[in-house]
Amino acid sequence: DKGNHRHFMAKEIYEQPETIGHTLSHYVDMGTEQVSVREQMPFDFADLSRLTISACGTAFLAGAVAKYWFERYARLPVDIDVASEFRYREPPLEKNGLSLFISQSGETADTLAALRYCASQGQHVASLVNTVESTIARESHVVFPILCGPEIGVASTKALTAQLTALASLAIAAGRARGVLSAEQETELVRALISLPTAVSEALGTEDQIMDIAKRLSKAKDVLYLGRGPMFPIAMEGALKLKEISYIHAEGYAAGELKHGPIALVDEAMPVIVVAPSDELVDKTLSNMQEVAARGGKIILITDPEGAQTVGQGVADVILIPHVSSFVAPILATIPVQLLAYHTAVFMGTDVDQPRNLAKSVTVE
Ligand code: F6R
Repeated sequence: DKGNHRHFMAKEIYEQPETIGHTLSHYVDMGTEQVSVREQMPFDFADLSRLTISACGTAFLAGAVAKYWFERYARLPVDIDVASEFRYREPPLEKNGLSLFISQSGETADTLAALRYCASQGQHVASLVNTVESTIARESHVVFPILCGPEIGVASTKALTAQLTALASLAIAAGRARGVLSAEQETELVRALISLPTAVSEALGTEDQIMDIAKRLSKAKDVLYLGRGPMFPIAMEGALKLKEISYIHAEGYAAGELKHGPIALVDEAMPVIVVAPSDELVDKTLSNMQEVAARGGKIILITDPEGAQTVGQGVADVILIPHVSSFVAPILATIPVQLLAYHTAVFMGTDVDQPRNLAKSVTVE
């Protein structure tokens, strides 16, 4: 049932304040403002040598954001690769490492093969899934649920924000166990997580403006998405979503890599979407953005009021999302990139919920 929405994808985008809240109520104790991991873990975060993450598509991008969190807030070294590469690379794995597999369906063939490899190498095996009765869940030593309810649209939306919410919580738990975060810091980070459902509702309010931008985006042949730090995977997610449902060619790039090649593409016909809410690195990203503006690129900036204040001229469109802690900002920034892809596809008249050539669950390699 799509409710009042035209597509399941729209319904699932709009469900996110609720689904994020649901994920949080599993991982966070709202009373004590602390993370509570209910799952029985056959390892201690304090003793882990390394975290190895493997997944496909959007689930991989959730892991790519989590890498920044586990490194920064838990000082845990993280390796991440797409499962289709990881499984055949057969990398050497350190003793007492944790391997984490992220999969909405729990049935993705490459992710499952990566899991079996890690299990055969004596790693601790954890999975983060939506479907807890799945093969990936069954073969894991510990299963972390994301609890976002069934996702029908082929393009993943609410599963991503649920994955991110769970991963952020686990990064805090790891940071506490490893003595990196104090109790006060934990409370501060947990409060940031708790602020998300309201901030996501507000961010959904950008829809009218985004429809207007999407109308223009639907005329583009190529679109570039830029982000730095944890916004880099969100830029890649924006590009992935646009490609898969609107069939417009798009690339997500690390903002600092722009001058190493892709800036050659920039001209007046090229929309460049810059994902840059204010954080310690925003000035750097905004200066990359000015380099694009100087070459006539049409900039669409996703930022918060503070980020908008530091921008000079040359920005055609600024999509304002509420200011939140830089910890949870990647989760919030997901909302406008989802809406941009969705409305662009609607303008183009594509089959949003069932894009051509794609399957919801990829059970063959
Ligand atoms: C993109 C998308 C896919 C999936 C990928 C992994 O919108 O939906 O990229 O994220 O196929 O699927 P799961 O998470 O089921 O392993």
